[in-house]
Amino acid sequence: MHYTLNSVRPKDLEAACAIVGIYDDKMLTSACAEFDEQCQGAIKQLIDSGDLSGKLGSAQLLFNLPGLKTSRVLIVGLGEQRKFSAPRYIRVQKEANRVLKGSSATNAVSYLAEIEVPGKDLDWKLTQAVLIADHSHYVYRATLKAGTKSKLESIAFTASAAAETALRTSTAIAAGVELARELGNLPPNICNPGFLAERAIQWAAHERCESDVLDRAAMTELGMGALLAVAQGSSNEPKLAVMRYQGGGDSKPYVFVGKGITFDTGGVNIKPSAALEEMKFDMCGAACVFGLMETIARLQPNINVVGITPLVENMCDGNAYRPSDVVKTMAGHQVEILNTDAEGRLILCDALTYALRFKPEYLIDIATLTGACVVALGGVATGLMGNDDALVNELLAAGEHMHDRAWRLPLWEEYQSQLDTGFADFANIGSKGAGAITAACFLSRFVEGQRWAHLDIAGTAWDSGRKGSATGRPVPLLMQWLLSKTAL
Ligand code: BES
Ligand code: MN
Ligand code: ZN
Repeated sequence: MHYTLNSVRPKDLEAACAIVGIYDDKMLTSACAEFDEQCQGAIKQLIDSGDLSGKLGSAQLLFNLPGLKTSRVLIVGLGEQRKFSAPRYIRVQKEANRVLKGSSATNAVSYLAEIEVPGKDLDWKLTQAVLIADHSHYVYRATLKAGTKSKLESIAFTASAAAETALRTSTAIAAGVELARELGNLPPNICNPGFLAERAIQWAAHERCESDVLDRAAMTELGMGALLAVAQGSSNEPKLAVMRYQGGGDSKPYVFVGKGITFDTGGVNIKPSAALEEMKFDMCGAACVFGLMETIARLQPNINVVGITPLVENMCDGNAYRPSDVVKTMAGHQVEILNTDAEGRLILCDALTYALRFKPEYLIDIATLTGACVVALGGVATGLMGNDDALVNELLAAGEHMHDRAWRLPLWEEYQSQLDTGFADFANIGSKGAGAITAACFLSRFVEGQRWAHLDIAGTAWDSGRKGSATGRPVPLLMQWLLSKTAL
């Protein structure tokens, strides 16, 4: 999709579709009033006759209104003007895009960013408009017959040129979200460790970008015994992709590590078969890192960023690792495997140890780590834990701003003893309760002395069900945070 800014008023507009809002009580927004004037009150007449309303969440397409050079006007209901809010703006944008997607318009001009939203500026309104539009118009097609593509090619938002930076930034973030979604949605027989490693190599074609892929031999050399134990049961070779963006001279990098289990059977502790197919999404943390690196390559900010993705398939076969195996991590800790389905933390711990080599300013991992996090927070909030209050608070605020929200869970000392075992330095699972936290406790042992945060996206990385799709979260949260650290 192509996004542009536009300042054309309704009377001069020649578009396939215009999008405007009306409030309850027959209150037109100014853009809508301009259209109404142009078509000699035809819109007001429809409201008076009860055929059109400003009910919150409604969206109706009007065709061929008299006196207009624009063939379709999409009227969205905004509800009561004094109750209009940021969440309502988001809802209205989603609704407008849903109807637009069903129409055969090839281009659209949206006047919705002109609506007053309490506490929000034009940049915010535009950013949401772009992200929501892009989200709505994404269609998965990789393994489908052609023909499902939507006809819409471009959307223009009416806003002054002052919003140019916000448009450029949000378009780049939308591209990152889209990539994270596409990689997440691809089936695991295509999107395996080798496939993703190849994408990391291709990414390095961008300016200021370099990448490396470590193979099994290189990881053996480094002593990544935990990651390699998980990889043992799969005939797909494990990879560790490292993407480096150099825009900040000698400054310390922001380092992101994403869990890349391309399929999680659970291993010998095999998962039940219900919704097992959704475990193709177990690489959404890695997909998020790919999305971030894509956005960064497009924006070329003046910072250094490293994206690291351990890429492994967790299978069960004759060579698979077992419960009660003890493995040695790259950091030198001996870990007793008490559940082969707690594999994410095992690939992450070695990737985190490797990440410390880059002397990160901040180290952040993103992982579909625990079912317990889904139980705690569902699909609304990402679970957030960390060892630095300032960092955690910044991430919470960035998520709030983008409406890509996270919620903090405690990482108190008292939870750590759940990892105790008699046969190794510690176990890879806790005892009873607080599964999302004990998983983070495990990771915390590999980042001591390093400012670090962990995002558990098990509930937020995809929507469940047959038509469920990867969401691209938390690319918006993390990009907002990252961009708050640098001037573009
Ligand atoms: N990938 C799963 C976590 C998951 C489960 C994400 C369901 C989304 C939906 C992870 O590898 C896993 O299996 N975790 C176990 C940990 C347990 C064995 C301590 C879990 O959550 O059950
Ligand atoms: Mn698992
Ligand atoms: Zn997993």
